[in-house]
Amino acid sequence: MNDDQIAGEPIPVTSRNRSTTPTSDSFRSYIRQGWAEVSVERGLLRDAAVFAQSRRARLSAAFEGKTVIIPAGLQAVRANDQYYTYRPHSGFAHLTAWGSDTVAGSILVLEPIVHGHRAILFFRPSSGHDSDEFYANNEVGELWTGRRPTLQQVADELGIDTQSLDEFEQALEMWDGEMVVLRDADLPVTSLVDRRRRSVSTRRDGELGMIPTDDDEHLAQVLSEMRLVKDAFEIAELRRAVAATQRGFDDVISQLRDCVGHDRGERLVEGVFYRRARVEGHGVGYETIVAAGPHACTLHWTRNDGPIRQGDLLLLDAGVEVDSLYTADITRTVPISGTFTDIQREVYDAVLEAADAAREAAKPGARFRDMHDAAMRVIAHHVSEWGLIPVSAEDALHGEAQHHRRFMIHGTGHHLGLDVHDCSRARQQVYLDGFLEPGMVFTIEPGLYFHEDDLSVPERFRGIGVRIEDDVLLTEHGCELLSADFPRTAREIERWMERA
Ligand code: GLY
Ligand code: MN
Ligand code: MN
Repeated sequence: MNDDQIAGEPIPVTSRNRSTTPTSDSFRSYIRQGWAEVSVERGLLRDAAVFAQSRRARLSAAFEGKTVIIPAGLQAVRANDQYYTYRPHSGFAHLTAWGSDTVAGSILVLEPIVHGHRAILFFRPSSGHDSDEFYANNEVGELWTGRRPTLQQVADELGIDTQSLDEFEQALEMWDGEMVVLRDADLPVTSLVDRRRRSVSTRRDGELGMIPTDDDEHLAQVLSEMRLVKDAFEIAELRRAVAATQRGFDDVISQLRDCVGHDRGERLVEGVFYRRARVEGHGVGYETIVAAGPHACTLHWTRNDGPIRQGDLLLLDAGVEVDSLYTADITRTVPISGTFTDIQREVYDAVLEAADAAREAAKPGARFRDMHDAAMRVIAHHVSEWGLIPVSAEDALHGEAQHHRRFMIHGTGHHLGLDVHDCSRARQQVYLDGFLEPGMVFTIEPGLYFHEDDLSVPERFRGIGVRIEDDVLLTEHGCELLSADFPRTAREIERWMERA
């Protein structure tokens, strides 16, 4: 018997050539013995489970009579048998309330019953010691990757019926009606579902059936649109994410002096924030942007390999993702020396004015795009007053050339939640053109960016990039700044630096 034939539990192909796992029958019987029984402790229903149940009820109503399949997704391979930190698909997390402790490869199914659906969660539960998996499979074996919960524990904690993942394919053969699947979450599961759908429709229609991917598109859209308005659990988690993020920003400010002058000071800052994110949460909600000096003008500067120099600004765009997988998304731009120069302050104040104008526009009944329009009015007026555009602010705002957008090409905000750019499959008519409603959480993040090589602006502007990004909860009366405890005005920022 060679390495890949251990009792039908193949060693992953990627590690066969260096596997030292003993394969003798005497080793196999020896390692299987002498273990305590897997404990079947009962779990306690999590607070989040109640919210997830009502989310599933809403989904059930939208897909009456259809089998709805929502995979959590597989672990992403980094190389060979090395994986990135696991994170389930946000659609799955939203409907199960299973967060960073989700078992990779799980699948939520809403099976139609007479009235509504029954939820079943398929996952790979804790294994016993009666196969070779636990010691010989370095991808899923519990001696390699840690203990998994039992079916009973997950059923108790999430309030969903559970079944072993091994039973999924057999269950799929039993579903005869229409099916929808969240296509991009787990491609092997999508292929299985497509195969089953094709066989069901071929049997029914007598010719090779089509896969109704429009229904799947609709599912992705419904899952996104369901998340536009947050429930009380989600709002509480977003507050926790913002609070942890603030502690991460405080860490950075208090350690900034140590990062100045280092060749890769930006990386030091990234590391300081990452430490907080891993200690308090699951990690960062997106790649941290640490952009000193002119790097701030590169909107997605995540290389973070530059130095931090006195006299420059430092733009930090970062968010902690808590264990429920909700993330904050905050940007602050600070003067590394502790004090803004006149031109830095002038640009900073213009951006702050744009942020305030956007916040003013954020009220129930307004449209999402009104915030952007309000911010753009401020930006256009400032760049016009500074003589940076060849037309008046009004002409820029109403003309096709939109000259002011040269200095702020991005949007003024986005929905925020389980994904940093949340609700990404929602239709434009309910997102950008949609009306704001209490319970929506989004960012407001105007900026101004003058590239070093932008010859259209006077030299004093060149190399300055400023963004101010806050996280906002829309309420019945207007909006609440979830990041209200972050220093915000130029003076507050300077005091923050002084205190450090
Ligand atoms: N950090 C990504 C964003 O602000 O949208
Ligand atoms: Mn953002
Ligand atoms: Mn951001």
